[in-house]
Amino acid sequence: MDHCFRRKRLGLLKPLLSVSLVFASFLMIHKLKLAEKDGVGVKQTRGADWCGPECFSFKQGAGKSAPVSSVSPVRNDLDAHRASNGTPTSWDAQVLNCSEDASIRTKDWFRRLDARFHQFVLHRHCRYFPMLINHPEKCAGGDAHLLIVVKSVIEQHDRRDAVRKTWGKEQTIDGKRIKTLFLLGRATTGKDTKNLQKLIEFEDQIYGDILQWDFMDTFFNLTLKEVNFLKWFHIYCSNVQFVFKGDDDIFVNTNNLLELISFEVEGGRVDNLFVGDTINKATPIRNRQSKYYIPKELHDKPYPPYVGGGGFLMSSQMTRKLFVASQERELYPIDDVFMGMCLQSLHLRPQTHPGFRTFGITRRKVSPMNREPCFYKNLIVVHKLSPEELLRMWSVVHDKDLVCAHRTVM
Ligand SMILES: *[C@@H]1O[C@H](CO)[C@@H](O)[C@H](O)[C@H]1NC(C)=O
Ligand SMILES: *[C@@H]1O[C@H](CO)[C@@H](O)[C@H](O)[C@H]1NC(C)=O
Repeated sequence: MDHCFRRKRLGLLKPLLSVSLVFASFLMIHKLKLAEKDGVGVKQTRGADWCGPECFSFKQGAGKSAPVSSVSPVRNDLDAHRASNGTPTSWDAQVLNCSEDASIRTKDWFRRLDARFHQFVLHRHCRYFPMLINHPEKCAGGDAHLLIVVKSVIEQHDRRDAVRKTWGKEQTIDGKRIKTLFLLGRATTGKDTKNLQKLIEFEDQIYGDILQWDFMDTFFNLTLKEVNFLKWFHIYCSNVQFVFKGDDDIFVNTNNLLELISFEVEGGRVDNLFVGDTINKATPIRNRQSKYYIPKELHDKPYPPYVGGGGFLMSSQMTRKLFVASQERELYPIDDVFMGMCLQSLHLRPQTHPGFRTFGITRRKVSPMNREPCFYKNLIVVHKLSPEELLRMWSVVHDKDLVCAHRTVM
């Protein structure tokens, strides 16, 4: 039943996108010029090697599928040196080598497979990609409490802006430092890839909060965002205590999220912390019309428990375990199910919290919940909102005069 309520994520590209992009370019370039005057937008390079040996004390073999080459096509000139135990200390996937696995074409099951999965299975072995935009310095200089990572695509500039102004704002709350990054791939072929790339580079020079990998930002490639981030975190950010990962069209009550973290810390449940909106006993969707359709050839078992990818919280320790587990699993086209599979490899179950609403509440216009600030005040994560709705709800929820007489009962 639960799995019927799959979230919609990327949405269809609006036909007006190109127009708004042109407009956005103007804005961005204008902002950039201002920023340059202020001396912002200087590309930082990685500082001291703060990552101790305990970072890499577990399973070797990180990045084994990523060939290292002296020829680097990426802009960021990261050297690919490795620690003595063979684990990279900087991003080591330097060459885009994702040619299709032609042997698959001869397989019987491949011929039977729905065509929209061909691209996926032919490139399934490609796991770690070169970085087009990196921020190795993000977590250096002190222990950040929480890293917020937001899955986004280049075109969703207005969503990122709304997130930066609201729940994704980098700040310190009660002595707890919060850092934010957006995870992106590259524009899909057919779009105005060159200009989109320029745009995102401008944006990054202003805000310094973009991680971009050299893979196409398609729906079936979302899992690449998971595995590349897990590896990235392991290399650059393992001193951060908690990670919140979510979509760019959600509302997060940051204070409630921090409260939940404190509660879990007090309860001593940090080691295996992975909490969100859990789906139990889901099975692959066989309806070909669905965005989440999975053919039998790809998966013919029920799914393990997994949490909706719209927004979930995990501890740094958990992130590390998932990184190890993820390397042993074949990529799966649905990213949150893939994470569930990695948890299963670890013999762990995700924890459910009623404050995470990534499934179930569909944004029906008639639902009174969507207009009710107290509803948002009591929750942790709600999807899905337009940038305007997010900004409005954020200001209402943080209005000191807002009185919630009775808690909204879940
Ligand atoms: C790219 O990958 C293919 C198949 O995995 C391999 O045969 C080839 O040698 C690789 N090329 C480079 C430049 O690493
Ligand atoms: C994922 O990205 C890679 C690299 O850009 C590409 O070769 C592959 O076709 C993409 N896969 C899907 C399913 O879009």
